[in-house]
Amino acid sequence: MDKTYFIETFGCQMNVYDSEFVADMLSMRGYSRAPSPEEASLVLINTCSVRDRAERKAITRAQQLVALRRSGPPAHIGIIGCMAQRLGSGLEEAGCRVDFVMGPDTYLDLPRIIAGLKDRVDGPVRGAGPVVKVTQDPGCLYSLKPEAYDSVTAFVTIMRGCNNFCSYCIVPYVRGRERSKPHREVIAEIEHMVALGVKGITLLGQNVNSYSDDGVDFASLLGRVNDIEGLRRIRFTTSHPRDLTPKVIEAMRELPGVCEHLHLPLQSGSDRVLKIMNRGYTYGRYRETVELARSRVPGLAVTTDLMVGFPSEDDADHEATLQAVRELKFESAFMFRYSPRPGTRASDLEDDVPDDEKTRRLEEVMEAENRVIDACKRALAGQEVEILVEGASKREEGYLTGRTRKNWLAKLPEKGVEEGEVVVARVKGVSRWMITCDEVLRKVGA
Ligand code: SAH
Ligand code: SF4
Ligand code: F3S
Repeated sequence: MDKTYFIETFGCQMNVYDSEFVADMLSMRGYSRAPSPEEASLVLINTCSVRDRAERKAITRAQQLVALRRSGPPAHIGIIGCMAQRLGSGLEEAGCRVDFVMGPDTYLDLPRIIAGLKDRVDGPVRGAGPVVKVTQDPGCLYSLKPEAYDSVTAFVTIMRGCNNFCSYCIVPYVRGRERSKPHREVIAEIEHMVALGVKGITLLGQNVNSYSDDGVDFASLLGRVNDIEGLRRIRFTTSHPRDLTPKVIEAMRELPGVCEHLHLPLQSGSDRVLKIMNRGYTYGRYRETVELARSRVPGLAVTTDLMVGFPSEDDADHEATLQAVRELKFESAFMFRYSPRPGTRASDLEDDVPDDEKTRRLEEVMEAENRVIDACKRALAGQEVEILVEGASKREEGYLTGRTRKNWLAKLPEKGVEEGEVVVARVKGVSRWMITCDEVLRKVGA
């Protein structure tokens, strides 16, 4: 029987990393990547639970994939990730007739689960439900060490789980308690990726500022990562405003490899709402942290997450969020409508902002933020930017794309420039989501 797999990934970068880990595990066992789910003997859907919409999207897709299931030799379909953890065997009742369901702490068991599956051509045979494995393992940490890697940037998960219990958030429930990957393992993993051609890494955790292993805190970890030869750029996400220390800000200032980009989710500009969200800071404190970071790290881009329509959010609270956007001028923001998650503390509160009002507030926040982004972009015309070149543009012949240190997407003419190089280029034109460079001025180091 041929062994081919296809993985579709929803959700955050943690899931992207986990999918890579699973793919690597499968390829070590003789699987190759199929070009489409219809051609794969094993289809995995890595899911997210953070909002109701994310779950519904994954359920719809799982149903489609079950319907598309390859006929002929048996093909197996599994749902993995955070929604698998949350719903477990309940996924069958939700209409997903898949072969197995596995939570994020159980992936090492995947080969055994697959081996145990009986031939199933048309969904679970003889009425047997899916094999469900959702055991949580407080020690679970994965390291990725593939044989080959075809991108110049990579994610490296340095922590899993979360202890913060923001009142709206499902992550601590589906991902379990926070744990840090031993720092030596983090370094070995990055060195491995660099040997495979990776030039830029993003360190991942729900709250990287609380990283702690054997006396190594996050700032010292950054220092050690910065010492890795051949690694050009370091990013990290997510920082919690309550835990971001001046020491980390100084590390950003001092370490040349660390990009001038800080993702610092604010959620709301209203102190009253922040309190019910259990975020552990006020808007004033958040603003001071941003001001300190911007003053210490020249050219720093601060990006954020914002949520509208949290229970009891009124016009004044919403206005405070809009005001924060105008005042702090985030270089980019992810913006969401509140979605109640079963079992979280906020789900006990009445979801009293009507849907159309949430939509209206979201549009207002997006409009305010877009105005900020457009102004930031306009100021860039004619300036020089440093770009790590990631590969050929998918949209435009003769162009390469990459990212600036502030994490903005940029394209540049391909002549004389190669993937993986760091170049300084002049900005010719800007749009909200893309910087166009017309001239490469010089290459930076190697
Ligand atoms: N650990 C990160 C991100 C976690 S989830 C942090 O602390 O910020 C990413 C974003 O999804 C959150 O920042 C929040 O803005 C949003 N989010 C989380 N739960 C949500 C919910 N129930 N409804 C709407 N948005 C939510
Ligand atoms: Fe969720 Fe808060 Fe943890 Fe982020 S810090 S994952 S928002 S509980
Ligand atoms: Fe979603 Fe899980 Fe990430 S719930 S946001 S995929 S940690």
